[in-house]
Amino acid sequence: MNVLSLNMKAPVTKCLFPAAGLGTRFLPATKETPKEMLPLVDRPIIAYGVEEAVASGCADVIIITGRTKRSMEDYFDRSWELEAMLRQRGKDDLLAIVRNVSEGKKIVFARQPEPLGLGHAVNCGEPFCRNDFFGVILPDDVMIGEPPVLSQLIAVHDRLGGSVIALEEVSQQDTSRYGIVAAESVGEGVYRIHDLVEKPGPQNAPSRLAIMGRYILSPSIFPMIEQVQPGAGGEIQLTDAIRLLSDREPVWGVVYSGTRLDCGTQSGWLYANVRMAMKDPVLRKVIENAIS
Ligand code: G1P
Repeated sequence: MNVLSLNMKAPVTKCLFPAAGLGTRFLPATKETPKEMLPLVDRPIIAYGVEEAVASGCADVIIITGRTKRSMEDYFDRSWELEAMLRQRGKDDLLAIVRNVSEGKKIVFARQPEPLGLGHAVNCGEPFCRNDFFGVILPDDVMIGEPPVLSQLIAVHDRLGGSVIALEEVSQQDTSRYGIVAAESVGEGVYRIHDLVEKPGPQNAPSRLAIMGRYILSPSIFPMIEQVQPGAGGEIQLTDAIRLLSDREPVWGVVYSGTRLDCGTQSGWLYANVRMAMKDPVLRKVIENAIS
């Protein structure tokens, strides 16, 4: 194991968002609109992840996109005409909301030319992250947590160094939906990860601890991604690259505290909308009226 060549502890200030998926579970809504731009109550799904990254100290945001995803770039850009119109009409509250979308963060976009898998998507961010530990947020997994879930991972990185993955215990029949880890507890919900398997059936799962859409990764992940062969689903899997990384550098898992809203399926997205809307007294009434 060569853990000495790279400083295992470094401030984490960048976060990468793989957002190039085709969104086939939401067709036809996602034929021309990115699934990441579908609304979760009052803002696009991806805005929650970007807010979480910024609140965790990662104001440098790298979004990996693909064809049909241009509206994401427009969303995070300044909207001068809209801002001028709102200012002119004295709508200061709306002006603040609109300005907040682009303020306080630096966002760059890189394209994934072919949908070859999550590992391949992360590798498209290599020019921006090759020298630093960086966060990864899968925007479909909206995390409601205080402190923000990404910052919980950064706290483990700051304490122990190395890479960190968010974990959640799932039921035996659900292991085939996630990456599953073999790990040894080192206390307080933190695990040292020894092995990882992408989407194993219940018989092959090394545990019930599943990977959940948040990572702090060492820049050494990039040469590992280059080495992995297509895995589950014929795709270049990030899980397989982290498996190679875990042979060389420390990889930790942390059972995060918070609630995950899976916006990657129609039913999960609908549930997330209802759940978030129920927190607003006015919208709560709307839902109660609709179901009465
Ligand atoms: C991805 C990862 C998987 C992880 C999951 C969490 O899978 O490959 O390891 O458990 O996200 O949401 P996907 O949902 O993209 O198939």
